[in-house]
Amino acid sequence: MDRLLLLGMSILISLLSEAFAQTDLTGKVFVFPRESQSDHVKLIPHLDKPLENFTLLFSYNTLGRDNELLIYKNRVGEYQLYIGQLEVTVQGVEDFASPVHFCTSWESSSGIAEFWVNGKPWVKKGLQMGYTVKGQPSIVIGQEQDSYGGSFDQSQSFMGEIGDLNMWDSVLTPEKIKSAYQGSTIDPNILNWQNLTYEMNDYVVIRPCTWH
Ligand SMILES: *[C@@H]1O[C@H](CO)[C@@H](O)[C@H](O)[C@H]1NC(C)=O
Ligand SMILES: *[C@@H]1O[C@H](CO)[C@@H](O)[C@H](O)[C@H]1NC(C)=O
Repeated sequence: MDRLLLLGMSILISLLSEAFAQTDLTGKVFVFPRESQSDHVKLIPHLDKPLENFTLLFSYNTLGRDNELLIYKNRVGEYQLYIGQLEVTVQGVEDFASPVHFCTSWESSSGIAEFWVNGKPWVKKGLQMGYTVKGQPSIVIGQEQDSYGGSFDQSQSFMGEIGDLNMWDSVLTPEKIKSAYQGSTIDPNILNWQNLTYEMNDYVVIRPCTWH
């Protein structure tokens, strides 16, 4: 098992003319049941301005697996965050067990990226100070996209379950991250698991979450 893609955001302009489902997924997960070159879920963010700061929080249960914003898991205890093609790697103590609650944030003015794994802060790293994530992002979970909604590679597909995915256009305080981790909802304004706009493609199913 090598690099595991958890979530990739490709900054390519998309035409959001299709009608997408908008659903409260509380207590549910997307299940990616097999390795494939095509199974994925496209998430439509509520975002109409360049992104200077963000916090992204989600849970996943694995297995697990160019980009403007990409989160990889290299191995237990090691994650990589890419912003605008540059990356930082962070290492920390992580129980081998799944599931995992993962949170990352980034602030343009300082370039500081923070990481929280299972509610515990990991070491901070810096990258892309002054950068902004531009355009209307297309966010895909389950696959790495090398072009808009395509160029997937089976060996980089994600197998497992993902839930509770929320994204804010600001860096949440440690207190808010802790309470979000403990289950309270702090109005996510880019992606909201309780009001998620998404499109499932190929073999992805929604099931009640069984591991919380
Ligand atoms: C991003 O965060 C910085 C400080 O943390 C703040 O000054 C700036 O206004 C924020 N940008 C946006 C677009 O919210
Ligand atoms: C869900 O999001 C849409 C905007 O995309 C908004 O119009 C609607 O009020 C939201 N629903 C709830 C229950 O928050």
